[in-house]
Amino acid sequence: MSQSPESDSGIGKVTTNRLRKMKERGEPIAALTAYDMIMARLLDEAGIDLILVGDSVSTVVQGLDTTVTVTMEHMVYHASLVRRGVERALVVGDLPFMSYQVNSDEALRNAGRMVKEAGVEAVKLEGGEWLGETIERIVRAGIPVMGHLGLMPQSIHKYGTYQVRATTSAEAEEVRRDALALEQAGVFAIVLEKVPRTLAAEVTASVSIPVIGIGAGPECDGQILVTHDMLGICTRFNPRFVRRYARLDQEMARAFHSYVGDVKSHEFPSAEESY
Ligand code: KIV
Repeated sequence: MSQSPESDSGIGKVTTNRLRKMKERGEPIAALTAYDMIMARLLDEAGIDLILVGDSVSTVVQGLDTTVTVTMEHMVYHASLVRRGVERALVVGDLPFMSYQVNSDEALRNAGRMVKEAGVEAVKLEGGEWLGETIERIVRAGIPVMGHLGLMPQSIHKYGTYQVRATTSAEAEEVRRDALALEQAGVFAIVLEKVPRTLAAEVTASVSIPVIGIGAGPECDGQILVTHDMLGICTRFNPRFVRRYARLDQEMARAFHSYVGDVKSHEFPSAEESY
């Protein structure tokens, strides 16, 4: 079924404009990540508002420890799979490490690739005030941009840890300043990761664009989690902000063990499962 591009009923296609109206109405925005078509379709059918094709693909699909080695090719490939499964949600593609930091020409070219080759409707990048000109150019070209502040996993080698950010007044002030600068540059929303909830509440109240939190408390305009974490497929990292809505790792292990047992014991396939 095709969706009308804009409707306030909550049924039509989610746009950046709709997300802003949701903030104005105080209606929470529900966002999750996806990396393939089937997962994206299930999320879309469940009524998710925004699907992020995150560079977290590195940790939950590629089996790596950080997001820094993900390439544009990886992101374009996964985003194109996700796009096929989605009718309603807004699809946002992460720009990977070093695809937008060198200069705004490269950033614009790579943002364009995500839209033209993968079909996403917006891109996300990590960083504050210093990305102002880059964001302005991408937005001017017609591509909505989502910012990302607080814990920025692409900077893990600078931080040396995934612990909560902005616990000092200097860093908290930087987050406040960066949020205003991102809004000024034209981002349509900001992901705010792993900062104290009081700071997240302040930032959320200080901007007119939606702030979507991950480990940033309940006062944000919306919430996002990595889907493989909330499903309990990946349980290697266990930050307290991840609520496990399922333990699919256990369910999958049970199914795989049963299958191996059934094949080994000639229980599978049965006469009914044969031609
Ligand atoms: O890559 C990702 O999945 C993200 C979310 C954690 C927001 O950036």
